[in-house]
Amino acid sequence: MITKCLFPVAGYGTRFLPATKAQPKEMLPILTTPLIQYGVEEALAAGMQNIAFVTGRNKRAIEDHFDITYELEDQINGTSKENQLHSIRELIGRCTFSYTRQAHMRGLGDAILTGEMLIGNQPFGVILADDLCVGEPDNVMAQMVRVYEKYRCSVVAVEEVPLGEVDKYGIISGAQLDDEHIQIERMVEKPAPQDAPSNLAVIGRYILTPDIFEILRSTPPGKNGEVQLTDALQTQAAEGEVIGYRFQGRRFDCGSVDGFVEATNFFYARRAETP
Ligand code: G1P
Repeated sequence: MITKCLFPVAGYGTRFLPATKAQPKEMLPILTTPLIQYGVEEALAAGMQNIAFVTGRNKRAIEDHFDITYELEDQINGTSKENQLHSIRELIGRCTFSYTRQAHMRGLGDAILTGEMLIGNQPFGVILADDLCVGEPDNVMAQMVRVYEKYRCSVVAVEEVPLGEVDKYGIISGAQLDDEHIQIERMVEKPAPQDAPSNLAVIGRYILTPDIFEILRSTPPGKNGEVQLTDALQTQAAEGEVIGYRFQGRRFDCGSVDGFVEATNFFYARRAETP
């Protein structure tokens, strides 16, 4: 059973300035729900009720979101507005939340390593909240748990991206096991198109085995001078210990304005269809 999910949320969100000047990018809403809440809902529905955040300065709003807001709740208790708190109250009731801070922005790999004390020696999920995923019938993390149960090694969600965009992602290649699963052999962080081993990109969903921490400790800074999770995963991949999974569903890059608007339109249309 995988019960823990790690959310690295220390990043600045500079692509959304000035909106993210004084609030975390993870609190930007798609309709009325902040991005981070979609991520935590996905983790919980995949069986991961222990939520671990690697947070940073100016991210207090995330902690407050997953807590009771006493004065507000007291005011609206018993009114029709109370309904709007139903989803977050359910998460607060069913999950545990723990936090640690990443003091310096040294990359995703460093953020994951900072979370070690919250995770311990067990496999765990990782969700990057600005990749908003919709899976049918099961969400993407729940699909990945099934992949983990079959292969018992690290799993990364992958999808094809245009060749011109490979420099935004970790790019993989390897042996195709069947339509959905790839035994990864190579992983490169944000390669130039001419250096990319394929156009299969890792998106922000991972299941990691805990040996990743030891590997991260000895992984030198890579692309952009940051400790890259992709480089640590390459060490596991060289041992045949990483599966790439082509998930069923759709992913919106809510770290970009275009993806954010697409997600908004998608959820708005879906809400209009729901009776
Ligand atoms: C991170 C990872 C990258 C991955 C991407 C998915 O990059 O470093 O390998 O493909 O998330 O969203 P970031 O978007 O944080 O620059």
